[in-house]
Amino acid sequence: MLATNQTGIAPENNSPLNHLDEWEKDILNRYPDPSEIATNKATEAFRNYEEPTRDTVKEFYRLNHQYQSYDYVLEKKANYLQFNKKEMPIWNAFDFLNELVDDSDPDTSLDQMQHLLQTSEAIRKDGHPDWMVLIGLIHDMGKVLCLFGEPQWAAVGDTFPVGCAFSDKIVYPEFFANNPDINHPIYSTKYGVYSPNCGLKNVHLSWGHDEYVYHMMKDYLPEEGLYMLRYHSFYSQHRENAYDHLMDAHDHEMFKWVNLFNPYDLYSKNPDQKSWEELKPYYQALVAKYLPATLKF
Ligand SMILES: [Fe+2]
Ligand SMILES: [Fe+2]
Repeated sequence: MLATNQTGIAPENNSPLNHLDEWEKDILNRYPDPSEIATNKATEAFRNYEEPTRDTVKEFYRLNHQYQSYDYVLEKKANYLQFNKKEMPIWNAFDFLNELVDDSDPDTSLDQMQHLLQTSEAIRKDGHPDWMVLIGLIHDMGKVLCLFGEPQWAAVGDTFPVGCAFSDKIVYPEFFANNPDINHPIYSTKYGVYSPNCGLKNVHLSWGHDEYVYHMMKDYLPEEGLYMLRYHSFYSQHRENAYDHLMDAHDHEMFKWVNLFNPYDLYSKNPDQKSWEELKPYYQALVAKYLPATLKF
């Protein structure tokens, strides 16, 4: 019999992705950069998309959709939202995050930090408020969950509500057939444990880096930014509008900010990115303006 972790889930092949970013590359495949569609670059990228990567992403979603149940999410929240694992300055957390990079692959070295800086620098270049630049820098910091031993499917991936019916607008909806909630008398209904337009503040989303970093930052940043952190992987809503029946008017207002943020997350690749050394003074001052000297994880 396979050994199980504290959630009682067998660790089978918990890490189907060769690298965490394979999930994000797959999102780009689903939602290509509109400016590149015009120049045909996106279709080229699609053609070059390697079959093995697609298989790892598919396996990743099979596990994600099987295990992200209502009870699982509540259990993870009860554990991680105590923030009693570690306390460190944000800069140590970035170093920690860079450990996610597979040393055996030279192309991915410092990928995590590069992605964060490309996102934040693109936001800064467009003249958005400084707190939004900070959101760009920290939005994926919750991926440290992987370093606390969480499987890939519990740290990254598109997020979706649990405790109510899964939308067929979620990527690979067929894999929900193996989710324990699929035939639950309440969780399988349209509204489940929720009520019509109850507002997302009352809705539990699948567990991952978005929810975790939102709770970490909720006392320090404006609400618009907190929505960007909390819902940036909620593609079935911010791209597909599959959960309008749970959103309230305030969510719709705030999702304008989520939609503003998304292209910076997906499309801000910049080959001429300034080095961290050059950018450091600006970001140190920005972090000091909004965040405490150490953060609890
Ligand atoms: Fe993310
Ligand atoms: Fe990101």
